[in-house]
Order: sequence, then C-alpha cells, then structure tokens
Amino acid sequence: MKFIIFNGSPAGRNSNTNVIGQAFLEGAAQAGAVTENVFLAEKKIVFCRGCFSCWFKTPGKCVMRDDMTELIQKYSEADVVCFATPVFTWDMTANLKAFVDRLAPLKSPLIVQKQEDFDLADATEKQQKFVVISNCGFPGNHNFDTLKTVMAPCSPVLELYRNCGKLLKSKDAAVQAVVKHYLDAVKQAGYEMAMRGDVSAETRESLNMELMSVQEYVQYLHMG
Ligand SMILES: Cc1cc2nc3c(=O)[nH]c(=O)nc-3n(C[C@H](O)[C@H](O)[C@H](O)COP(=O)(O)O)c2cc1C
Repeated sequence: MKFIIFNGSPAGRNSNTNVIGQAFLEGAAQAGAVTENVFLAEKKIVFCRGCFSCWFKTPGKCVMRDDMTELIQKYSEADVVCFATPVFTWDMTANLKAFVDRLAPLKSPLIVQKQEDFDLADATEKQQKFVVISNCGFPGNHNFDTLKTVMAPCSPVLELYRNCGKLLKSKDAAVQAVVKHYLDAVKQAGYEMAMRGDVSAETRESLNMELMSVQEYVQYLHMG
C-alpha cells in the first residue's frame, strides 16, 4: 500500500503542516506502507489554462510541460492520497489549488450522477482514498469550514484539522509534551489507515484534543 502527501504549505518541509504529515506517514510506515512526502513549494506547477486539451485533444495528457507530469504519475500509483495545507484566508493555499486544478487529466468529460449531485467520471480505473491534513493559526475550528466544504466532493476517509497550529513547533517543553500526545494520535491514525483502511472512533476523538485553552493560546501568540 502506498501513501503520498501533497503538502501545499509555502514553508514546505519546515511547515507546521509537515509536523502533522510526518507523524501520519510515520504511523503508516510502521504498519508496512510505502510512504512519500511531496512538497509542492519545491515543484514547478503552472496554473491550469482551462483549455480542456487533456480531455478532448490528448486524453489524459496536459499540454504543459512541468513537474505535474511526474506528480500525476505519483498520484496515480498511490492508494492513499493526502492533501495537506495550512488554512490561508479560510481555504487551501494557492500552491495546493494549482496542483489540484492540474489533476484534470485524471477526469473525463463524461458527467455522472453521484447521489443527488453530478460529477465528472474518473478517466482511470484506480480509485484512491483521500485524507485531508490541515492546520490553522487561530484557535477556532470554524477556520476549517471553507476547506471542509471544498474537500467534501472527494469524500475524504479522514480529515485532520488542527487549530492552534502555532504550537506544533513550539520550543516550550510543556507545550511540546501536549503536542507529542497529539502527534501520537496522528501516528496511530496513520497506522490504522494502513492496517485496515479506516481509523477507529477512539483515535478520531483523540485527533480533536485541545492543545491549549483559547485564552492561553491568544496570550501565547502575543508573547511571540
Ligand atoms: C496569507 C495567510 C492567510 C492566513 N489565513 C488564515 C485563516 O484564514 N485562518 C487561520 O486560522 N489562520 C490563517 N493563517 C495562519 C496559518 O494557517 C498558520 O500560520 C499556519 O500554522 C501555517 O502553517 P504552515 O507552517 O504549515 O504553513 C494565514 C496565514 C497566512 C500567511
């Protein structure tokens, strides 16, 4: 089983998002999964032109030549695809959006009905499972509302939304102890996903643990 993260933080491997991503992949690897962590900020990905050549002229192939050729290959080989991003202005980062738009060659122009809605049919047979990993700077969970809505059409099997993201790389020993407890839950989630394709209710509950009260967190941010 192959797990891949596409991390859309401009901070790449130094991002808070990657603190969560690494723990998730570590857990998956412990269960025997092959893992890969891709930092989109290090890749050349130009914006989709919306020319639809990948559907009508050269099905499955984009007219542009950049790192997406390699990334679509990696995406297609994976069993579990994780879209990882910090919240930037209530949504995913521009890096991740540029990447997701360029996945158009994996869709076909055929419209299919899904429950009460309509979607494009997949051009490939392989169906990936989706995981969403995100962190945000503010304490409230409502900061993820837009992202949750945007990600819903890919029916993620697991969503890790971590508020108080500034704590993830804290140098304060007491904070680090709480963060470690949280990251242990993230590792466990990765482990369970790789072992049985799902995550237990108990682990899901732990993923929502409070790292710090709102008042303390606001004070922590003000201290710099
Ligand atoms: C341009 C910009 C927009 C942001 N918008 C939000 C926001 O809407 N809500 C929020 O809680 N945090 C917001 N943040 C804070 C980031 O989510 C936070 O700093 C996060 O920890 C960065 O994660 P990273 O290190 O993985 O990039 C924003 C940060 C930037 C730079």
